[in-house]
Amino acid sequence: MTQDELKALVGQAALQYVAPGEVVGVGTGSTVNKFIDALAAIKDSIPGAVSSSEASTARLKALGIPVLEASAVEALSVYIDGADEIDAKGYMVKGGGAALTREKIVAAMSRRFVCIADESKMVPVLGAFPLPVEVIPMAAARLARQFEALGGSARLRIKDGQPLVTDNGQHILDVTGLKISDPLAFESEVNQWPGVVTVGVFAHQKASVCLLGTPGGVRTLT
Ligand code: 5RP
Repeated sequence: MTQDELKALVGQAALQYVAPGEVVGVGTGSTVNKFIDALAAIKDSIPGAVSSSEASTARLKALGIPVLEASAVEALSVYIDGADEIDAKGYMVKGGGAALTREKIVAAMSRRFVCIADESKMVPVLGAFPLPVEVIPMAAARLARQFEALGGSARLRIKDGQPLVTDNGQHILDVTGLKISDPLAFESEVNQWPGVVTVGVFAHQKASVCLLGTPGGVRTLT
């Protein structure tokens, strides 16, 4: 099975967590795109979705799925999103698609976080994937030095020759060389650094369920 087929498999499997009559939280990325495509088949059974990015909003709308403002919804029963890395406890690194801040907000609104990924995303320790951190541009250089003091190396994410600008008008640092053995403590610490909008460790908002695509089918981790 190709990676694309594994993504489609878990995107389809995530439908079982969508409650009829309830708004669903929708993440961002190529795996979530498969979920959105699958969701279109049952769109008449839900009032709509709260989206974590402009990209997902565009895809949802193109498929006729209403997109609701997060501020118009009190809580969500489920949030479906992908991940860049997942450890055995369900702690994740996210933000490869630069949508981490809104992803964390929608995850926080949701009673259950269902992570969908192909099994290559499972790791023993978080940190091999460059850690995305959304930052206020004026703080980027100072924050890069703070990550260096932790043993990391931070680079500003570039797109089309310019610093990438997120949906929130901010920049992304990608940090390599870290071993995040205590994700809860790491997330709490980095969140306090002035200029950090969101760190891409999802430990306090970890996955409740992971659906992993494997050649043998979907493996469910709880
Ligand atoms: C976007 C994310 C994505 O969920 C993450 O990058 C995984 O993406 P993909 O499903 O394309 O591998 O965090 O900000």
